[in-house]
Formats: sequence, C-alpha cells, structure tokens
Amino acid sequence: MKNLLEIIMPASLTVVAGAIAICLFTLGDHLTPEPVAEETSTCAGMGPLEPVRQAQPLPPGVDPAAVAVGDALFKGNCAQCHAVNDVVVGPALGGITKRRPMAWLIPWVKNSSKLVASGDEYAVKLFNQYQQQQMPSFQLTNAEIQAIIYYINSQEGVPKAAPVAVDAVAYAPSETVSGQ
Ligand code: HEC
Repeated sequence: MKNLLEIIMPASLTVVAGAIAICLFTLGDHLTPEPVAEETSTCAGMGPLEPVRQAQPLPPGVDPAAVAVGDALFKGNCAQCHAVNDVVVGPALGGITKRRPMAWLIPWVKNSSKLVASGDEYAVKLFNQYQQQQMPSFQLTNAEIQAIIYYINSQEGVPKAAPVAVDAVAYAPSETVSGQ
C-alpha cells in the first residue's frame, strides 16, 4: 500500500506540474501578442496614441442638438485655424472654459481685436503670443457661440482617430494569434 502511494504521488505531482507548465505556456502565449498590438496602434506619422478616451459626457442640461449645431458652426468658421486638442494657427481650444469665462469668450469671438484694443490683459498677452495675428470677427449670436463651446467641451481629450477604429486595430492582432 505504502509503496503504491509512493509511486502514485510523484506521478500525480508530475501531472500537476505538467498542467501548471501548460498553463504558464498558454498564458505566455496570450501575453506575447501585446507589443504587436501596441505597435499597430501607432498610425503613420501620428506617433504613439494616448490611451483611448471617450468623448466627455455632456454636462446636465446640454441638448445634444446644440452640440450638433456647434459642431457645424465650428467646422464652418473656426476649424481652419483651430482644433480642440492641437495648436493650428490659433491655440488648441480644449479646456477653454477652464481658462476663460463665457463673459469673456462671447465678446472675444464677436470681436477679438476690440478686446485686445481695450487692453484686456489676457487678450493682449495671447495676441502677442500668437505673433499679433488677428482672429476674424464673427457675426454669431450668443447661443451660437455657446453651442460652439459645448461642442469643444464634448471633444476635449478625444484622439484624432475615431476610438472605434483604434479599438479594432488594437484587438485584431491578439485575437488572430490566440486563435491559431
Ligand atoms: C484666421 C484664423 C482664426 C479663425 C478662423 C478663428 N480663430 Fe480663434 N484665434 C486665432 C488666433 C491667431 C488666436 C490667438 C489670439 C490672437 O492672435 O488674436 C485665437 C484665439 C482664440 C481663442 C482664445 C484661446 C485661448 O487659449 O485663450 C478662442 C476662444 C478662439 N480663438 C475661438 C475661436 C472660435 C470659436 C472661432 C470660430 C467661430 C475662431 N476662434 C476662429 C485665429 C483664428
């Protein structure tokens, strides 16, 4: 009886050890594709992508229709000089409501030169910082400017590539490898 146990024990230990080894091996197999996935998420010329962040949830009371109006107004009037997350001709506008109140933003968009000429400290500093390049004046209503700001806030921190597309690229390679 004792002898039998002595024979069985090491045998079962070997099975357990074997199982662990197989587990580690397959685990390793699942882990290795990761660098590949990271590599493919680097789009040509864009550098490594930041972790994918979804569009900010709208603040309570903001009508999605207003954001859509702001989107169209931004693309039609501002996008040739501004992006939300990158400096173009003018500053990146992401986080603008943390820098400036609406009471400043509305007169600025309507007539930035007037605000600079009035000696407004922030306006003068920004104007000089951007090589005294004048932003055009816009015949927009307060509601339209507010809609543009809602749109900007909704886009803050959102990467240039659509998040859905990035997800698809990041997950495709590891799925292919583990399926082999
Ligand atoms: C022709 C280029 C141009 C267009 C078009 C333009 N801007 Fe600007 N904007 C600038 C420049 C340049 C500055 C930097 C200040 C300056 O030089 O007067 C600026 C500054 C700003 C600022 C202040 C940013 C900060 O960081 O404080 C806001 C807000 C702004 N623009 C909003 C808008 C909006 C909204 C529109 C569209 C309705 C618009 N801009 C269209 C060129 C432009």
